[in-house]
Amino acid sequence: MQYSLFLLPQTPAAGAVERASLEARYAARMVEAPHLGKWVSYVGNKTVPGLRLYRYKEAFSFRLVRHFLQQFAHEGANGLVFDPFSGMGTTPFVAMQEGYPALGIDRLPLAVLAGQALANLTTLTPGMLWQTFQRLGPQVAHTSPAEVAEDVRIMSLAFPPAMLERLRRWKAVIDTLEAPLHEVFLWLFFAILEPCSYTAKDGQFLRLKKDKTLADPDEALAEKVRLAEEDVAYYAARRQNGRWGPLPLILEGDARRLEDVPFPSPPTAVVTSPPYANRYDYTRTYALELCFHFVKNFDELRALRHSILRSHIESRLKEDDTSPHPAVDEILEALRFKHLNNARIPIMLKSYFVDMQQVVAGMGSVMAPGGWVAMVVDNVRFEGEMVPVDLILSALAEQEGFQVHQIIVARYKGNSSQQMKKYGRVPVRESILIWQKK
Ligand SMILES: C[S@@+](CC[C@H](N)C(=O)[O-])C[C@H]1O[C@@H](n2cnc3c(N)ncnc32)[C@H](O)[C@@H]1O
Repeated sequence: MQYSLFLLPQTPAAGAVERASLEARYAARMVEAPHLGKWVSYVGNKTVPGLRLYRYKEAFSFRLVRHFLQQFAHEGANGLVFDPFSGMGTTPFVAMQEGYPALGIDRLPLAVLAGQALANLTTLTPGMLWQTFQRLGPQVAHTSPAEVAEDVRIMSLAFPPAMLERLRRWKAVIDTLEAPLHEVFLWLFFAILEPCSYTAKDGQFLRLKKDKTLADPDEALAEKVRLAEEDVAYYAARRQNGRWGPLPLILEGDARRLEDVPFPSPPTAVVTSPPYANRYDYTRTYALELCFHFVKNFDELRALRHSILRSHIESRLKEDDTSPHPAVDEILEALRFKHLNNARIPIMLKSYFVDMQQVVAGMGSVMAPGGWVAMVVDNVRFEGEMVPVDLILSALAEQEGFQVHQIIVARYKGNSSQQMKKYGRVPVRESILIWQKK
């Protein structure tokens, strides 16, 4: 791998002995690769057929996955490709096109549907989506609105009543379809919820923007179907010429419980990105989609929130949670003396690392010997305290039977202007961890 060895210094703050020792331990394996920086986000997918249809903001790019799968294949990894946090299914989707069998799991049912729909899109006959859309259109006015989780407040804030009613009727007619058209249409329908609502998936939250001009749902869906038809035609042609793998398996599952996952064979390559320890809550950002199809009411939404990895601020600690690394204790101790803008940040951080320890241990036990991992992670910083997620996870990986080959720094993120004023500018790494199972 050709990467620059120039690294920005990350000077440890006083009282950061454990973190300093991790920095020293991995310094020789850390490399900068700014050319990968633009591939760690979904932005590169905006022109990729299939991936461009639905904005899963937390996705990484097609090119990043292809880069690592090709690199790992070069190192002899030619078996099952696995993503324990598959999101909209980018890794399985690329793996299929590179000729590998693939399995993705995600705890969010919306992500599972998105991953399945994305893969299924490539199996459709051109013209099928458009014909179905034209057949469904006239039925919408005569169909009773579908049930949605009406008691979730964002549902009434996000849509004017007539819009919500029209969308619910569209949802009801889509529900009359059979698989795989049902999944694909639902997915396209979810893609129009943001433009048809007063919400924006902005930064870390689903923001209300009451001054937005709303899209017409019929027109927005027609446009999505038209785009999807282009993508169906694109893949229909490629499927015939290429060396495609089988349709990937995308299942609902918990990355902390890999022992429950029905692996057809031990994975030889993992390309993944877990949630970041940055307070982000997937059940809020995707609340509209979840309320339209996956949860019946607020209680179910809340239960889902508490069943995903504990990377968000409402995370709760369990009695037997113990910190998996001394650097985590050090950070928690340092935060005790800080004035945090949310008192739950230490709880979130501790539970995040407890959860990620389980994930890494599970990967260590299910992966094939010699198998490769590329994991994209973001470091975080709270009130000046750096949390080197990349190094802590790498240290945990070594305890679980992996060799840490490289920590590739894909980009540095600045601090918020508030933090910068108080603590100076300290770059925060976004890294790709390259591990190999011994
Ligand atoms: C950064 S995103 C992954 C995006 C993915 N790489 C893509 O390209 O779309 C992290 C994913 O982890 C999922 N997740 C959260 N908790 C989980 C858990 N306990 N097990 C499996 N997936 C989980 C989230 O729903 C989210 O889709």
